Amino acid sequence: MSRLDSFIRRMVAQRACLNWAAEAVAGIAGPVLELGLGNGRTYDHLRELMPEREIYVFERAMRSFGRAHAMSVPPEKFLILGEIENTLISAAARLPAKAALAHNDLGTSDAGAYEALALRMGVLLKHLMAPGGIIVSNVILQVSELISLDTPPGVKPGRYFIYRVS
Ligand SMILES: C[S@@+](CC[C@H](N)C(=O)[O-])C[C@H]1O[C@@H](n2cnc3c(N)ncnc32)[C@H](O)[C@@H]1O
Repeated sequence: MSRLDSFIRRMVAQRACLNWAAEAVAGIAGPVLELGLGNGRTYDHLRELMPEREIYVFERAMRSFGRAHAMSVPPEKFLILGEIENTLISAAARLPAKAALAHNDLGTSDAGAYEALALRMGVLLKHLMAPGGIIVSNVILQVSELISLDTPPGVKPGRYFIYRVS
């Protein structure tokens, strides 16, 4: 499969999982957490799916955040800058409530380092989530209180990951 085909399949899977998750949390109060602003594409999609929700966005630094499309920059109040292992801890004091939905779209070119980070940050993220809340992730999160769910129809298993918080 070409890299272009692979990229397109990943984006289609990402959108299908986010669309599914927005409906799945309809009955759960709380904000949305977006981990990794990047270009702001998925932030913009979440905003469109759930205009009534507050969306808090985690990103490493202004340098990375500067890459975001001008129309996809969150208001300052909702932007949490810094290394994710620090900001997931400090965010507890900043969020108005536990989150109904989180989307983890962090990543680095070093797959091994990212998987190791995901193992550590899954636990921190779980503490910010409401019971029954949903985490959609581009990487496996192995946390005992997270229940792995099937991805929506059309998404090949292993391409994207969905968890419910117990
Ligand atoms: C794949 S991009 C996000 C793409 C974005 N969701 C979109 O749709 O445009 C990953 C982002 O995560 C950020 N990131 C990666 N590792 C991070 C870390 N350890 N702490 C905070 N941000 C991080 C990077 O700066 C980058 O902007």
